[in-house]
Amino acid sequence: MKAVRIHQYGSIDNAALEEIPAPKLGLDEVLVQVEAASINPLDTKLISGDMKDYFPLTMPYTVGTDLSGTVVEAGLLAARWKQGDRVIARLEPGSSLNKHRGGAFAEFVVVPAQLLTTAPTKLDLATSAGLPTAAGTAWQALFETAHLKPGQTVLVHAGAGGVGSFAVQLAKYIGAHVISTASAANADLVHSLGADQVIDYRTEDFSVALRDVDVVLDTVGGETLSKSYQVLKPGGFLISIVMPPDQEQAEAHDITATFFGHRSHAARLDLISGLCDAGKLRVIVDRTFHLSDMQDGLAHSASRRARGKILLRPAV
Ligand SMILES: NC(=O)c1ccc[n+]([C@@H]2O[C@H](COP(=O)([O-])OP(=O)(O)OC[C@H]3O[C@@H](n4cnc5c(N)ncnc54)[C@H](OP(=O)(O)O)[C@@H]3O)[C@@H](O)[C@H]2O)c1
Repeated sequence: MKAVRIHQYGSIDNAALEEIPAPKLGLDEVLVQVEAASINPLDTKLISGDMKDYFPLTMPYTVGTDLSGTVVEAGLLAARWKQGDRVIARLEPGSSLNKHRGGAFAEFVVVPAQLLTTAPTKLDLATSAGLPTAAGTAWQALFETAHLKPGQTVLVHAGAGGVGSFAVQLAKYIGAHVISTASAANADLVHSLGADQVIDYRTEDFSVALRDVDVVLDTVGGETLSKSYQVLKPGGFLISIVMPPDQEQAEAHDITATFFGHRSHAARLDLISGLCDAGKLRVIVDRTFHLSDMQDGLAHSASRRARGKILLRPAV
């Protein structure tokens, strides 16, 4: 089968489409034929070695964490899954469950059964590959970490991005007042996802325009993070998914500020899949690349200009 692999840390030029033996199925694993994978910024960070202290990779490493596909065969202990089932999964890069730590950019993948979820039936199977990391992170941030409630005001940075596009929709869906930053070219998109107010961060300073926000989700880091403390009301909640916030700043503003690493969670992903089927959540697809053009896809992701998700497909 074909798979995108690296043999050492370095630039995305190191990633190559190779012919390798099909993976062997374990007792509690499921063999999935990949319909599509989605690219996350984490993929380029893993390839470069920037994350090697957190997620040390065993080389050669098959790139990619997020996938949708069809079950080919289930191990003896994974009898809940049948040939032909439509599934989605995130291959947890930091979990001992997933000994391959990645592997979605391939024609076939062995997925630990505990990481597998039924794909939304109302979404095209390839598109649903955009869900696992980005929607899972938005959910973990808003509902499991900040405990966002209806009626609260939330600021979602980069509402046009992968995580941001889901965070805007999820926050609006539960009845929060949603403010989001985006460039002017993406303002219509972010409004269409449910944002009540979109701030063009290139022409307006959100930290001057906003006060008394309950929750900020920082998906950008740097100056965006450092300017976010002051827009929160006392008792507010700042979550960065890019870098740990400064605890002295948090204390000075009387807020809680935290960083977390997304953890794959099949039950959470199942709830997300259900929202797609209920017509409450959509996946914005920026572009779809063939697996053989994965370097173009990775470069587009690294440009930080993607609108929603970038997909890779073994067959188009
Ligand atoms: N901690 C975790 O577990 C975790 C999980 C997932 C992601 N992450 C990290 O979170 C970050 C975001 O991930 P992602 O998948 O959402 O990224 P992404 O899809 O690549 O984000 C691209 C978007 O960012 C927007 N953007 C860029 N600079 C901006 C700025 N200064 N202000 C507002 N918007 C800006 C762009 O919109 P415009 O063109 O409109 O500027 C573009 O739509 C990455 O660093 C990723 O590694 C962490």
